[in-house]
This record gives sequence, structure tokens and C-alpha cells, in this order.
Amino acid sequence: MKAIVLAGGSGSRLYPLTKISSKQLQAVFDKPMIYYPITVLIASGIRDLCIISTPQDLPRYQSLLGDGTKWGINIEYREQARPEGIAQAFLIADDFVGSDSVVLMLGDNIFSGGDDFPRAMHAFAGGATIFAYHVKDPTRYGVVEFDRNGKALSIEEKPVHPKSGYAVPGIYIYDNQILDIARSIKPSPRGELEITDVNLEYLRRGQLQVRRLSRGFAWLDAGTSTALQEASAYIEAIERRQGIKIGCPEEAALVRGFLKLDQFEALLDEMPKCEYRDYLAGVAAEIRRLDGLP
Ligand code: G1P
Repeated sequence: MKAIVLAGGSGSRLYPLTKISSKQLQAVFDKPMIYYPITVLIASGIRDLCIISTPQDLPRYQSLLGDGTKWGINIEYREQARPEGIAQAFLIADDFVGSDSVVLMLGDNIFSGGDDFPRAMHAFAGGATIFAYHVKDPTRYGVVEFDRNGKALSIEEKPVHPKSGYAVPGIYIYDNQILDIARSIKPSPRGELEITDVNLEYLRRGQLQVRRLSRGFAWLDAGTSTALQEASAYIEAIERRQGIKIGCPEEAALVRGFLKLDQFEALLDEMPKCEYRDYLAGVAAEIRRLDGLP
């Protein structure tokens, strides 16, 4: 399974911050926003990633993340010249997807808690798997309607009168049919290839699974200044309380076995002295202690 992280868009709702840097490079507490979705993917065992962003912003992602070798993964890059919808990602990265199944993550979605995603990816056997999360204001999202047995009946994009409180977060798992489906859908009235239209096609084919995220799960989006600030405050509160960081790709790569301990420690040597490095050094020390290493 491969993964695409979509980090496009003009970020107009974060203006003037987005005059300095792309939305998904803004800080969410102590890390760039895109670290969070990348960490989810690494923790789920995915090694092949493709980052899609605007022609102006792509070099910034390349200089931040490189080709992924340092984290034991492969990262490719593709440009989205104009913001013409989430589903356009599959047209842009069709050669990257090849004959595989693929996870799409939106670069501004932040998740914390639970192992729902690794489990869903592990259990994935075809069709499409998407998720549902209860929110107070579903009108800003794709909204799923369920029947009494929890079966998805409909999905509507940003409905004025939502049929449920269950929003669809920005993480989607598709089999290879996605490439044909993305080619077949037409732009919506707002001129975008809507991911909801993709999901509706899988629903029409009887191949859509919608998994509800567990209660303790946090899904934050960071699309407005207020939401960005709230996401930072949330991450800070959890990290302070637990002494465990959320969204560290290096740590996820070590835990997943993509990096050996000596490779992980070599990464630390390249980092300036900072809290982030101190944290990762603590992770390494704990592994040394557990493994009885000097
Ligand atoms: C997009 C999708 C929407 C989904 C949301 C999750 O909305 O169109 O279905 O619920 O991402 O973040 P947009 O970011 O285009 O407002």
C-alpha cells in the first residue's frame, strides 16, 4: 500500500501566515503540520509516500523532508498547479500509485490516539475504507448518514442540513479502482474534483466501508487561525501531560523498524540541541535500557 499526502491549496484562510509559508508547513505546537499525517502513515507501516503541493511550495517540502531515506522511507513529489480538488491527487500521482492500493491523507488533518488507522489498513481487502467522526458542526465537511445497523446510506459534501453529526476526516483508503474512478468524475459547481464524489461511486458499487473512529480519538483540522491555535494547544496539553510526543516521524520509523537504533541515533547527531532532540534522545535511551544495551 502506498500513500499520498495532499498539501496543496492557497491557505487563504490562514492569511497572512501563508504569505510566509505554506499551510501544511505551519507550526502545530512544536512541529510542522505535515509531520502529523506523515507520522500516522509511517506508524501504519507505509513506506512509499508522494507529497503533492503547489509549484511554489513544493521546494520547501523537498528541503524539509528530502527523499525520505533519513526516515527509512521513500518520498516522491508531484505538483498540483491549480487547486482543482482533492480527487485530482489521483490524476496527478497515477504513475506513483501504479497497480497498488493507496491511502490519501490531507496534510492539514491532525489525528491523535488509538490504532484505528493501522488496523484499518491492515484489514483492508479492497474497495474503499473511509472514516466517520462525530463533530459539533458537520456542515464544513463531508457528512455520512448511517442506518440503524451502522451501514452508510449517503454522503453529502458540506450539506446545509446535515443528516447526521458524522463528518468524514481527511484520510481515505482505496484499492486500484480509484485511478479509473478519479478519471470518471466531473468537477463540482465549485470547480473541484470532489473526494465525496469518489466515495459516492464506491458506495454505489457496494464497496464502501465507513469505520467510526472511537470516542477517545482526536481529529483536529488546522485550516483557520483559531483552529490552528486550538490544535497547538491540544497537542501541547497532551505532550506535557504524557511526556510523549505526537507526530514524530523519527520515533514512528524507529518503532516500526524502518530505522535501526544506530541510524536513529545518527539522526540525532545532525540535529541542533533542542527540546525535540532531547525527546528523541530519551526515546533512544529507553530502548537501550530495555534491550540491556550500554
Ligand atoms: C475536504 C473534503 C471533506 C472532508 C474534509 C476533511 O474538505 O471535501 O469531505 O470532510 O476535507 O478535512 P475541504 O478541505 O475541501 O473543505
